[in-house]
Amino acid sequence: MTTITGRVVPGDQRGRTLGFPTANISITGREDLDGVWAGTVRLPSGAAYPAAVSIGRRQTFYSGSAEPLLEAHVIGYTGDLYGLELRVDLDAFLREQLPFRNVQDLIDQMHRDVAHTLVARESWETCGGLGRADAAVSVGGRAAVAAAVADTPR
Ligand SMILES: Cc1cc2nc3c(=O)[nH]c(=O)nc-3n(C[C@H](O)[C@H](O)[C@H](O)COP(=O)(O)O)c2cc1C
Repeated sequence: MTTITGRVVPGDQRGRTLGFPTANISITGREDLDGVWAGTVRLPSGAAYPAAVSIGRRQTFYSGSAEPLLEAHVIGYTGDLYGLELRVDLDAFLREQLPFRNVQDLIDQMHRDVAHTLVARESWETCGGLGRADAAVSVGGRAAVAAAVADTPR
């Protein structure tokens, strides 16, 4: 599992208007991490929250020239995170970054990303014996979780 730590910087404030506010951390030289992840965000207080994490250049809004950014939509947290030092665990890869044809398609996909983040978390919490990477193969379906458990040698 990969962990990124960094201070939250101001974004374009667009996330709030889309219904998905994000804590933004600048990230460079980690193109290998581009994509959308099921993650965990830890605050300096030690409190931990599930997060749908996007790493990339927001191709829907910028045509290739934007700085890469880590954006964490912290599920269940409503306060202001600006200036805080966060620890972001990238627990499971969900999908590649995509250029969406319109903003509504992006919003619809972010809803699915949040749902998949919570399903992935539930998978590795209920499959106590499985590592996160193994549980991640089951993202999207409980039947797959059961199959993965059944296939695990004991
Ligand atoms: C879970 C999640 C998935 C995202 N996926 C994409 C994507 O596939 N393509 C894209 O262009 N932007 C994606 N974004 C980034 C959004 O475009 C970005 O959060 C939005 O433009 C707000 O930007 P701001 O925080 O700078 O205001 C994603 C963001 C989140 C939180």
